[in-house]
Amino acid sequence: MAEIRNHDFDNLYWVTLKDGNVRLATKNADPGKKVYTERLVTEKGVEYRTFDPYKSKLGAAIFNKMQNFPFKENSKILYLGAASGTTVSHVSDIVGDKGVIYSIEFSARSLRDLITLAERRKNILPIHADARFPEEYSMIVPQVDIVYEDVAQPSQAEILITNVKTYLKDGGYFFLAVKSRSIDSVKDPQIIYKEVLDKIESYGLTVLETVNLESHEKDHIMIVGKK
Ligand SMILES: C[S@@+](CC[C@H](N)C(=O)[O-])C[C@H]1O[C@@H](n2cnc3c(N)ncnc32)[C@H](O)[C@@H]1O
Repeated sequence: MAEIRNHDFDNLYWVTLKDGNVRLATKNADPGKKVYTERLVTEKGVEYRTFDPYKSKLGAAIFNKMQNFPFKENSKILYLGAASGTTVSHVSDIVGDKGVIYSIEFSARSLRDLITLAERRKNILPIHADARFPEEYSMIVPQVDIVYEDVAQPSQAEILITNVKTYLKDGGYFFLAVKSRSIDSVKDPQIIYKEVLDKIESYGLTVLETVNLESHEKDHIMIVGKK
């Protein structure tokens, strides 16, 4: 028998597996189906999916005690760099039927997997577009509660700023998974993080916290802030 405890954040759980290991988890909105290599655990008729912090930077940030977690039932999210939907699938579990994840991805290959996922999970809207050009999806994406970015591009900060400017509600939250090696492979990551933070703040956005993801992803941090 597994033991389930509520996490402090909405719709997140701690699952103690039979072997005593504790895993982060979400309730599976598509029971019986896995999305990646997560484990499915059923307790009292409810199925949970373990949320692997080695496969998701959002999972790693939660694991590393991120303080802000605005994702909840009904949230509308613009997700930049959705890939095949590993993290998107957990966000889909969290936001429920009335939430929407506008999921931007420019790789046609990843998008195919994302479309297959979205056929089963109606709150995921896959959009084939380049996040550097937010006007490409202006006909589809409304004002959202959260902008989440994980694109591993040299222009990560600029992509965040242009998308936040166009789509984030005032008072909305943004998340930026910074991969320092995508910006500069030789420069000290600490200098790169500082440059990214300065760019974001010089645009008038408020940084609430930075979470070091080093334990799970080399040379990565998560920046969390508010418009
Ligand atoms: C690190 S992966 C994202 C992993 C995903 N966020 C997850 O946790 O499941 C980065 C993704 O961003 C996509 N990407 C990179 N640059 C992009 C851009 N300018 N516009 C849209 N997608 C982009 C890549 O194709 C890749 O799938």
